[in-house]
Amino acid sequence: MLQHLKFLTAGESHGKGLSGILEGFPAGVPLSEYFIAKDLARRQMGHGRGGRMTIEKDHAEILSGLRHGTTLGSPIALWIQNRDWENWKQDKMSHEPPLKPVPEVTLPRPGHADLAGTQKFGFSDIRNVLERSSARETAMRVALGAICRAFLQELGIQIFSHVIQIGPIKTRQPGDHLASDINAVADASPVRCLDEAAARSMIKHIDETRKKGDSIGGVFEVLASGLPPGLGSYTHWDRKLDARLAAAMMSINAMKSVSIGDGLDVAETSGSQVHDEIILVDDKIRRATNHAGGIEGGMSNGELIRVQVSMKPIPTLAKPLRSVDIKSREAGMAHKERTDACAVPAASVIGEAMMALVLADAILEKFGGDSLSQVKAHIAATGVR
Ligand SMILES: Cc1cc2nc3c(=O)[nH]c(=O)nc-3n(C[C@H](O)[C@H](O)[C@H](O)COP(=O)(O)O)c2cc1C
Repeated sequence: MLQHLKFLTAGESHGKGLSGILEGFPAGVPLSEYFIAKDLARRQMGHGRGGRMTIEKDHAEILSGLRHGTTLGSPIALWIQNRDWENWKQDKMSHEPPLKPVPEVTLPRPGHADLAGTQKFGFSDIRNVLERSSARETAMRVALGAICRAFLQELGIQIFSHVIQIGPIKTRQPGDHLASDINAVADASPVRCLDEAAARSMIKHIDETRKKGDSIGGVFEVLASGLPPGLGSYTHWDRKLDARLAAAMMSINAMKSVSIGDGLDVAETSGSQVHDEIILVDDKIRRATNHAGGIEGGMSNGELIRVQVSMKPIPTLAKPLRSVDIKSREAGMAHKERTDACAVPAASVIGEAMMALVLADAILEKFGGDSLSQVKAHIAATGVR
């Protein structure tokens, strides 16, 4: 769905590491490994994560596309070492055939890619699937998204997120909390929730769920401010900004629904209550409300973009569900790996990264330019700001 930028990720969960390449990114954007590391650390936070987060402190090394602290316009390649590889390289994840047989994983987990993935590729060992279907890959997306964030920040565009629901526990309507730096408030909460009372209940609920050997999902919201109107287009289906954002969010492991603005609620509300009246504020055309979530006709309308995404409960369970052995065809209980009980807070940071990739792409599509200063000049020339 990207029109201008291209990105690729590669790497297995317990392989040597993750690689990523971002192509089509402009020159002249200030960038450092430290800037990317901040978002990688935010992805690793959150109450409910499993043991891996204590082993891995992700760091993305910049291999190309940067000189003297600014981007060159050439492809930016990143590398994130998997620290766990040391424990896996001898046998389970060795590149050479192992010296002694490694036990195969043969009991697929309901809700994971295991069964359909082995059927698709004809594998007898589910590890061939789970190593890549794991959400470990999203660490690289967060790193690539951080590069786009660096670009967007130079244009005055900020991206935030926060968690609005864990299992049955919901916060007040998110529109109430529009602090200037939502991320600073959210990052200080173990569940990235802006409402302290709701956060306490969420933490309790995660602990109770984990004790039962179960898992839990939730909903997060991603916001983008400072956007010019006219990103995306009404002229063709695959240029619509809402469609591009929805596809990007749905591509994150375990996301099951995406809504823009008031989303599902609009179905039960009348038009006069849903549509945002157009008003003049200090001679600027603005909206009285933002039920549309900043997108109309597949284009940004200059208001805050508001996307809500629901995540299903994590499929790997400490108390596993019933399964069938794909080799022996005997009934058994699903495979267990080290697992998170709840990863909604981390998922919200991944949602920010996907938003950053889509918005950076939409800016480059509309305004063009090989360097940051050219993009800035093109934006200024259109007079949209
Ligand atoms: C941040 C994050 C962490 C996750 N951690 C786990 C985990 O520890 N165990 C697990 O079984 N699934 C985990 N998942 C979810 C699976 O990756 C996902 O359910 C699986 O790839 C199947 O894809 P689907 O749910 O989109 O159908 C995680 C997802 C995210 C976004």
